[in-house]
Parts: sequence; structure tokens; C-alpha cells
Amino acid sequence: MRVPGTKGVDRVMPKPIREGNGPRHVAIIMDGNGRWAQRRGRPRLFGHHAGAKRVREIVEACPDLGVRYVTIFAFSTENWRRTQSEVAGLMSLFRRYITKEARALFEENVRVRFIGDRVRLDKKLVSLMDELEFMTSGCTGVNLTIAINYGGRDEVARATRRLAQDVAAGKLDPDAVNEETLPKYLDTCVLPDPDLVIRTSGEARISNFLLWQSAYAEYEFIDTLWPDFCAEEFGRLVTAYGNRERRYGGVKA
Ligand code: IPE
Ligand code: IPE
Ligand code: MG
Repeated sequence: MRVPGTKGVDRVMPKPIREGNGPRHVAIIMDGNGRWAQRRGRPRLFGHHAGAKRVREIVEACPDLGVRYVTIFAFSTENWRRTQSEVAGLMSLFRRYITKEARALFEENVRVRFIGDRVRLDKKLVSLMDELEFMTSGCTGVNLTIAINYGGRDEVARATRRLAQDVAAGKLDPDAVNEETLPKYLDTCVLPDPDLVIRTSGEARISNFLLWQSAYAEYEFIDTLWPDFCAEEFGRLVTAYGNRERRYGGVKA
């Protein structure tokens, strides 16, 4: 399967990523699409479509803010509990999103990765995901990671299963399992831990997102509903992060 409209497309001038004391990796729980739509008397899927449109703006803001990695929570392992029509609408939105955005992401030198368990996703979506990962594998700009059918507990369980298989196969010494070994089995093995986690929509919970990886992240819970979240607000949160003191259990220097 080939992402349509990408054959022979070249990347344009990659935008350099500014270095600074801001967060290198920002993870975002994009919440509030349903309420945004309900407030307008529209179906929940209308909110999901409006929310998807916001992603490009946030990714494009990253180079100037010094953000190299941005990871977005699009669908959790718990979101299958929603109505069949909402789930089907979201899956179709993901397929359309990849097909429509692939070219622009590639041209903007964005490296796209997906995390989450692909086994339960439909084959067409998985092949679009594989193709976009492959197509952008040489991109050196912002790293965009999209979490679909992702759950932190599920990820740790899957990682542990593979780790146990390596132990059983004699490839890994159980005494060698430590804080450095386990993350190598996580979906995020090539990514640094998030420095800042943002959740929109006023809920102050992490809903099973990046549990292992966010152990020492800074958090911002903001009231804005995801479809209203803009580059300006993102910039304010990224700048505010620069004023936080991360101590990692130590004391002030
Ligand atoms: C977040 O928006 C998107 C997904 C979970 C897929 P919601 O759909 O959770 O929106 P609210 O929380 O109901 O407003
Ligand atoms: C978290 O939002 C998942 C995503 C944003 C994809 P939810 O809306 O599913 O979380 P809960 O149910 O409020 O905890
Ligand atoms: Mg929600």
C-alpha cells in the first residue's frame, strides 16, 4: 500500500530546530473533542475532525520552540468502549488523516512514528501507518509520534512478554534486567522520555498515557478543549516550562 500523492515528492528546505532550555519532548493528551462538538450541537465526530486539523499547527510550531519530539494521544486502549459508530468514525478519520497529511509531513521533514498495539487495528490503517513511517524514515526534522490503540499498561505488558521470551530463549540474563533494559522493549524505545505532558479539556489525569516514560515529566493541565488549542497557547506552555526547576529527587543546586 502506498500513501497516495507522495511518489516523487521531495522534501523542501528543512527548518532547523532551535536549541534552548525548553522541553525537547512534549507529549499531548488531546482531550475535549466531544465536548467541543456537543457545545455546538454537533455530533462527537465533528469535534474529532476539528481536533485533527489542529495537529499540523502544533507540529509546525515545534522547530521555533526547540521541540524535537512531539507525541500525541489519538486513541487509547480504553477508547474501544465508545459506541461502535464513534470508534468506526475515528478509525476512518485516522485513515483519511494519514492519506491527506502524508505529503505535507514529508515535505516539512517530519519523521512520523506510531506507538500502540497494531494487532487490533484494521489492515488498511496499519499499512498506511507502515507506509508513512517508511516514507518519513529519512526525515530529520520534528519527530511526530502518534499513539493509536495505545495504553501505558498494555505497552508495559507487551514489553514484559517480549522480554520474558528473550529470557526463555536464553538471549537475556534475568539478572541483567534493570531500568535501562526494560524501556528497550517499549514502543517508545527510540524516543527520549517526555519532558512536558500537556492535557487539554480540564481533566487532571493521565488516562494510561506513557506511564513509564512520564515518571519525571512536568505536567500542564489546561482548560482549553483540544479543537481550540492553538500554536500560541502551545508556545506559552513551552516557554513556561523553561522556568520550572526539575530536581529528579535531588535538592536545589
Ligand atoms: C479526545 O476527545 C479524543 C479521543 C479520546 C479519541 P474526547 O472524545 O475524549 O472528548 P471529550 O472528553 O468527550 O470531550
Ligand atoms: C484520553 O482521553 C485518550 C485520548 C486523548 C486519546 P479520554 O477522554 O479517553 O480519557 P478519559 O476517559 O477521560 O480518562
Ligand atoms: Mg475525553
